[in-house]
Amino acid sequence: MYAFEPDPQQPKAALYDDLAQAAAALVAGEPDPVANMANVAALIWQFVPRLNWAGFYRLIGDELVLGPFQGKPACIRIPVGSGVCGTCAASGQTQLVPDVHAFPGHIACDAVSRSELVVPVLRDGQVIAVIDLDSPDPARFDAEDAAGMENLAAAIAHAI
Ligand code: SME
Repeated sequence: MYAFEPDPQQPKAALYDDLAQAAAALVAGEPDPVANMANVAALIWQFVPRLNWAGFYRLIGDELVLGPFQGKPACIRIPVGSGVCGTCAASGQTQLVPDVHAFPGHIACDAVSRSELVVPVLRDGQVIAVIDLDSPDPARFDAEDAAGMENLAAAIAHAI
């Protein structure tokens, strides 16, 4: 059993530090990328409040393909350059979207989603995947969330 106990009262930066440490511990020594992405998606779900979806899209050729996640079933394939995830993959830049309805080309997988944060997972400077967080709350994510998720992506990039 793996027991990680996030403290919802702690400051956001500390929560993300704990999340990155827990993720690094979970993937340590495990070579299977699916197992590692599944556990990291579950950890995000456990640590980060006010989400309706959290998970991976993997860059395969010129498409993003759905990976392990928590939440409702989602779009399986997203062309690079499309939607929030495809924009992240094309640019290699984090996408912080306070209002998904105002994002041109946003792909609505779950109608409940109101705001979104997508960070790239980079290996040797190349995008290999993105991590997508959706929230039912408008403007749920800020720069601290973005920094925390970028740090998490860096901590697990070698293991997915
Ligand atoms: N909203 C995303 C699609 C993925 S789902 O939210 C899980 C996008 O616009 O890329």
